[in-house]
Amino acid sequence: MALRINPSILSADFANLESELDRIRTADLAHVDVMDNHFVPNLTLGLPVVARLQEVSPIPLDVHLMIDAPERWAPAYAETGAYSVTFHAEAVSAGVDPVTVARSLRERGARAGLAIKPGTPIEPYLELLPEFDMVLVMTVEPGFGGQSFMPETMPKLRTLSAAVRDAGLDLWLQVDGGINDDTIGIAAEAGADTFVAGSAVFGADSAAERIEQLRTLAGEHTH
Ligand code: DX5
Ligand code: ZN
Repeated sequence: MALRINPSILSADFANLESELDRIRTADLAHVDVMDNHFVPNLTLGLPVVARLQEVSPIPLDVHLMIDAPERWAPAYAETGAYSVTFHAEAVSAGVDPVTVARSLRERGARAGLAIKPGTPIEPYLELLPEFDMVLVMTVEPGFGGQSFMPETMPKLRTLSAAVRDAGLDLWLQVDGGINDDTIGIAAEAGADTFVAGSAVFGADSAAERIEQLRTLAGEHTH
């Protein structure tokens, strides 16, 4: 089974993003955390920066929108050419169907991702899975890098993994938050195939070596 290692540039040097993207050129996708200081208590970067990163990145972008009302903004992120755009189920405005948002992303050529916070159950969303290309199970509360992995989120991954297998779907299962050498195997064993790692990769002397190490560890725990 294919595995992906997606370093999060939240832990990169924000004054040198082009060279930081170059440091992770052996990774699969570059994970870009967009935060609005409403959905999460932190503020990062927005559409003009993502559009420019798209132009200089040696690898495709995996955009993680931690913003309220993603139905308003997500299509524009897809139009930057982002390979994947993920929005939070909890953030969609009342009366808006997440499926409509997903279709607007696919229509613009992006993969559509649905993210859920650690406390959000997956069951209400299982019937929507065919409309998505990825589900992101947050393994920390979204908002900040460098937090500790929450193993209590693993049953959701197992449920998802079984649902994907039973339905024969081609859907990536992503984990994000606290992924490092000690935790990546736990997530892989529970069914994750797409791993975001911020501080673990950018905190390493050699980002390339850490990416390969994470890839090897994930592979050893994948079944
Ligand atoms: C947190 C972000 C993550 C963050 C992960 O809200 O979504 O992508 O960068 O950072 P680490 O890997 O340090 O937990
Ligand atoms: Zn993220």
